[in-house]
Amino acid sequence: MKFGYFDDVNKEYVITTPQTPYPWINYLGTQGFFSLISNTAGGYSFYKDARLRRITRYRYNNVPVDMGGRYFYINDNGHVWNPGWSPVKAALDGYECRHGLGYTIIKGSSQGISAELTFFVPQDFNGEVQKVSIKNTGSAVKKIKLFSFLEWCLWDANDDTTNFQRNFNTGEVEIENSTIFHKTEYKERRDHFAFYSVNAPLAGFDTDRESFLGPYNGFGEAQAVKNGKANNSVADGWSPIASHCLEIELAPGASKDFVFALGYVENPFAEKFAPDLGGSDKIGEKIITTGNSRKNIINKKRAYEMIAQCDTVEKADKLFNDLKAHWNALLGQYKVDSPDEKLNRMVNIWNQYQCMVTFNMSRSASYFESGIGRGMGFRDSNQDLLGFVHQIPARARERIIDLAATMMEDGGAYHQYQPLTKMGNHELGSNFNDDPLWMILAVAAYMKETGDFAILDERVPYENDESKAATLLDHMKRAFNHVCTKKGPHGLPLIGRADWNDCLNLNCFSAEPGQSFQTTTSKDGKVAESVMIAAMFAFIGPEYAAMCRVKGDNAEAQRAESEIAVMRKTVMEHGFDGEWFLRAYDDFGKKLGGKECEESKIFIEPQGFAVLAGLGKEQGADIKTLDSVDKYLNTKHGLVLNNPAFTRYYIQYGEISTYPPGYKENAGIFCHNNAWIICAEAETGRGDKAFEYYSKIAPAYREEISDLHRTEPYVYAQMIAGKDAARHGEAKNSWLTGTAAWNFVAVSQYILGIKPQYDGLKIDPSIPKNWAGFKLTRIFRGATYNITVKNPNKVSKGVTKLVVDGAEKAGNVVPPFDGGIHEIEVVLG
Ligand code: BGC
Ligand code: NOJ
Repeated sequence: MKFGYFDDVNKEYVITTPQTPYPWINYLGTQGFFSLISNTAGGYSFYKDARLRRITRYRYNNVPVDMGGRYFYINDNGHVWNPGWSPVKAALDGYECRHGLGYTIIKGSSQGISAELTFFVPQDFNGEVQKVSIKNTGSAVKKIKLFSFLEWCLWDANDDTTNFQRNFNTGEVEIENSTIFHKTEYKERRDHFAFYSVNAPLAGFDTDRESFLGPYNGFGEAQAVKNGKANNSVADGWSPIASHCLEIELAPGASKDFVFALGYVENPFAEKFAPDLGGSDKIGEKIITTGNSRKNIINKKRAYEMIAQCDTVEKADKLFNDLKAHWNALLGQYKVDSPDEKLNRMVNIWNQYQCMVTFNMSRSASYFESGIGRGMGFRDSNQDLLGFVHQIPARARERIIDLAATMMEDGGAYHQYQPLTKMGNHELGSNFNDDPLWMILAVAAYMKETGDFAILDERVPYENDESKAATLLDHMKRAFNHVCTKKGPHGLPLIGRADWNDCLNLNCFSAEPGQSFQTTTSKDGKVAESVMIAAMFAFIGPEYAAMCRVKGDNAEAQRAESEIAVMRKTVMEHGFDGEWFLRAYDDFGKKLGGKECEESKIFIEPQGFAVLAGLGKEQGADIKTLDSVDKYLNTKHGLVLNNPAFTRYYIQYGEISTYPPGYKENAGIFCHNNAWIICAEAETGRGDKAFEYYSKIAPAYREEISDLHRTEPYVYAQMIAGKDAARHGEAKNSWLTGTAAWNFVAVSQYILGIKPQYDGLKIDPSIPKNWAGFKLTRIFRGATYNITVKNPNKVSKGVTKLVVDGAEKAGNVVPPFDGGIHEIEVVLG
């Protein structure tokens, strides 16, 4: 069952009912100001950091789900409704929500009034613009009241939801004309405030939540809206809100447009306050403020400058069109025309869009991540970069430097950092022994995309301490050595607190209820080893050697290669179980993820990297391994992480065995590492298998089963419940997942096979045999490559002919050009 449809021409997903199986959301903003918005206008905004600079309030896990957002209420002669249905939930005559790239348009109609709400965050603007168009579609004159509404968050979202004994006293606002300002804590230590304005005179306003809603009322029963009259309330502690009330008269067929702007402003310290208003009568008349004090009045210059950028419909429309143009240009970097419509829409629109969002958010703020739990993940951000680097390489570069600066001198890294401060998070610390390798992979991807080898000479601190700065290449070396110097009894890498699988906690031994598996480590383990890190090392390690070569250090490259050779041998000796790769050795030195195990005899994670690294290829280990993955992990909804699922708690394995079978890391379908298998299948030439796995989890292919899948059909979810779960096929944790980047890598570099390399663009597709070919445009280092792939002999892989600008070339790598448009023809056979 579907709840909408894809509009590929407009690059939108159109939702046709407000009652989707779960709130289906979108993200507005890509630079500093961000909003989450659901299909009923729920959600919230923040500046840079969802925890430390939360602008509007949102209550997670609310009842009913998704209550709170930016709401517009209409009182049409006593008939109260919202164009986005929530929170009043009055029946609508028409409803549609279009989630587009950086904007959301919600249309609702009821009893002769139709309203269209356009929400977006313009480029280079620290705010959300809301265009509201109201039309009288009936035959009589209408006089309606329109109320806006949002609730301010007192900045630190964690404190806001916990520290009520203080926070109920601190809320402060100012109101000047049609703009409501939120200034809690501004008089002392904050240099920032927020505002919400509209480009029309007000019939009234409210800034105190209880006055607006009425005591004991929810958002759906706002008293001021029911009364058709605002209270002009001035918040004084408790819960400050912002609500404008407009009176609108519309002749039959007439419509009116308004522009609202929600903004965030920082003032330099010396310019925080307005000049002393002395005895002027502005206070109480023009400026209304909490406490009615003449002191500490905000200097609003910067706010008014922002408002002036969007205070007419024409200006707002221009900003909106600029945003669309920006996205069209960004997506033009990689564009495919294949025989598969769903693949095209994933590749050309939604997967790339999601990669931008994961790059910006890491795992911080979604409808499954509260924005207070996790900042930027080290391994997460390095992987997110893989799917984003071709879009805006300069931002990827900046991110690489930020991440490398949170590395430690031993080559390890803070596992997370806060985006606002860019400082490593001490609570969580380090010791996730896969972390350093992802950094090498990210830097390699950036260098291959851009040819900017100078990044390796960039001086970057360790632990954000400038006195400990060294070149980025030095960071790479220490990252590489981190693996080499931390090996266990079999010579395999020690796992540390965990590797990619946060829930495989082999040094934890937790028996305490509520203890965090993420932060508790009972021992500095010297026994538990990860075959996954070993396989990653075999796959990623050569990238470090290549960097050394780029920099002319052949001796170091050779040293690295010999370390890798040793590891390859070790994996085949101790990490291969005959038909697939083991997962780990536990703290007792016992095998995990092998035939002799009681449960979880096979795990997905090491298999993909081992095959990609070609481990044991000469003896057919790659095909055996992939066949085992198919045989033991494949389901109709994708590949489960491990099998058979753990059915009891194993203290020596940790969190993985706390999940009920079929969920999350315990035999859920983790879409992230399905992509590694897709890459591996494509690499070995099995294009049909690669495509089978790709299409099982890519959301556009699951649209028809949205009632089962439940999360958005336009973005990947982290996990789909596995075969052992009662809800097999149901997705959770949509949006913020490494699935986005890795599946983009899988489809763009392995299935479609367009792979940036140091010496050019490699073209090596691995497609379903029945494809006649495809066309693709790729912008690479400033040049446009128009690529036509032909498949006359119905194969999956193997380039037999390469023609570049009319001239036949050997091999399958097209060199970088100095700009221009180039025609590339490739024949498979
Ligand atoms: C989840 C993991 C996640 C980890 C870190 C665990 O509970 O299962 O997927 O990576 O928490 O937040
Ligand atoms: C989600 C985390 O964000 C990621 O870092 C981790 O690798 C996976 N879960 C698997 O545990």
